[in-house]
This record gives sequence, C-alpha cells and structure tokens, in this order.
Amino acid sequence: LREHEEFTKVKNIATIELGRYEIETWYFSPFPPEYNDCLRLYFCEFCLNFMKRKEQLQRHMRKCDLKHPPGDEIYRSGTLSMFEVDGKKNKVYGQNLCYLAKLFLDHKTLYYDVDLFLFYVLCECDDRGCHMVGYFSKEKHSEESYNLACILTLPPYQRKGYGKFLIAFSYELSKKESKVGTPERPLSDLGLLSYRGYWTRVLLDILKKHKGNISIKELSDMTAIKAEDILTTLQSLELIQYRKGQHVICADPKVLDRHLKAAGRGGLDVDVSKLIWTPYK
Ligand code: ACO
Ligand code: ZN
Repeated sequence: LREHEEFTKVKNIATIELGRYEIETWYFSPFPPEYNDCLRLYFCEFCLNFMKRKEQLQRHMRKCDLKHPPGDEIYRSGTLSMFEVDGKKNKVYGQNLCYLAKLFLDHKTLYYDVDLFLFYVLCECDDRGCHMVGYFSKEKHSEESYNLACILTLPPYQRKGYGKFLIAFSYELSKKESKVGTPERPLSDLGLLSYRGYWTRVLLDILKKHKGNISIKELSDMTAIKAEDILTTLQSLELIQYRKGQHVICADPKVLDRHLKAAGRGGLDVDVSKLIWTPYK
C-alpha cells in the first residue's frame, strides 16, 4: 500500500454514495485496481460492499439482508447504537470499512491486518436500519497502550459532537480494562483538535470539582488518559508549573473558569450504564 500510494498520489474516487448521502472524498484510497477508472463508487451502507454502478447497488440492496453493522451491539441510548465488529470474524466488512475510511484519512496507517483490530461503529438508528455515522478502530493487543488506531466521522455527520463521543467511548473501554490509553500517532489536524477539546473538557471538570488539589497520576487513574497527554494538555492551558524538578498543577480558580467558558459544553455524553461490554481476551 505504502509504495503504491507514493507513486500514485492522485485521488482516484471523487465521490461516493452511501445511504442517503452523496459525499465528496478527501484523499486517495487504495481500492483494488479494477476500481481505478471510477470517479464515483456506490456503497451499501450496511455491509459496506462497494460497486461501480448504481444499478448494481440497487440490485444488491434488494438482496442484502443486513440492517446494521455485523457484530455485537454493545451500546444503545435513544437512537444511537454502537456495534463492535471483530475484524477476524468479519474480514470483508473490516476491509471495506478501511477502504472507505482512507478516503478521509491522510496519514498512513496499516490496513492489511484487519484480523488484529476491533471496529467500533457508531450508528443512528431508525425504522430503515442503523446508519453509520462514524467509527474508530482499536488493536486487540497494543504494546504502546494505544486505545484507538483510527477515528472517522463521516463528513455529513461532522461537527455534531460524534467525534468527541467516539473519543469518550474509547476511554470508557479503557476504564473497563483498567488501563490508560492514548490514540495512535500521528494525529491529523482535526484529530488533534478533537482530542485537545476532549482532554481539556474532561480535565477542567475534574480540576474544578477538586479545586485543583489533585495530581497528574490521580487524574490519569480517574480518566484513563495517559499521563503525558494530561501534562501536554494542562501545559497548553498554562496550568502547570515546574517546581523543584517536578510538574505541579496550579489551578487558579479564575484561570479555570476562563478556560471552562472557552471550552464550551460537550453535547453528546456516553451513558456508561448503557455500555454492555467485557474486554477482548
Ligand atoms: N474546524 C475547526 N474545528 C473543528 C473542525 C473543523 N472543521 N472539526 C472538528 N473541530 C474541532 C472542534 O474543536 C470540535 O469541537 P466543537 O465543535 O465543540 O468546537 C472538535 O474538533 C470535535 O468536534 P466533533 O463534532 O466532536 O467531531 P467530529 O464528529 O467532527 O469528528 C474527526 C472529528 C473524527 C476528527 C473528524 O473531523 C474526521 O473524521 N476527520 C477526518 C479523519 C481524521 O482526521 N481522523 C483523525 C485522524 S487521527 C487518528 O485517527 C488517530
Ligand atoms: Zn449490503
């Protein structure tokens, strides 16, 4: 993939049809060669199979019996559901999802081994089925304590809080595993903005409650956010001082309030009581 990409850095597919949306793509994605001459691809929004012609999709939709991503529904709250898809049990789905996601992800991550990943697919559900709004992937076993490999909100659904919901969800899974986690690097600009926003809001809320009397280690234990990410976030908010060889949190209440106002409110929260999940073994 990497070599192929370097030589043909041209964007191939310009638009896709997915569910009721026509979406303009952002980046190159290494679809199989027989799709190289296509400007537009038609996706089945449920199994994510893709086709060259609209008639093919229409025929497919008459016989495709999926109405939601394959795998287990592990969260439901109102019309929002999260499905966990094991890349080993649903290889084709995992690969289709990666092809689709790469259209919106610039930085290179390896997509070959979907076996090694779990995919958390967030859906808005109605009487026609569960419509994917975004997803994140997670290695089944990460040496580097990554709790998220790739994250995507499909463009029609962006800037509605789903990105931060997905991030929050990834940390809820880490809490259930009793582990700290961090996203795989590099982060895209939008990825960094979203993470910064999430970290900032979560940490400021706790600092406010504890009137600043809390250590980075304690913050990390409470949130499953890796200590380094806490430190860089608090440093960027100028809430850290370096004293006698140690980083200490200096949370002046006025400074906290100013940051809290600027951070805005998070819209969609993960209701942990609705998450039914046990860690992958
Ligand atoms: N312009 C400015 N700020 C933005 C924008 C934008 N277009 N999009 C998101 N943000 C910032 C804002 O601070 C926003 O918070 P706010 O709305 O409260 O101000 C915050 O990011 C998160 O917004 P959400 O609505 O929760 O996030 P969204 O659903 O839009 O998803 C995501 C964010 C997943 C990064 C999305 O932009 C996306 O899919 N981008 C393409 C793929 C990508 O870059 N993924 C991350 C790669 S890094 C990795 O995978 C580890
Ligand atoms: Zn289908």
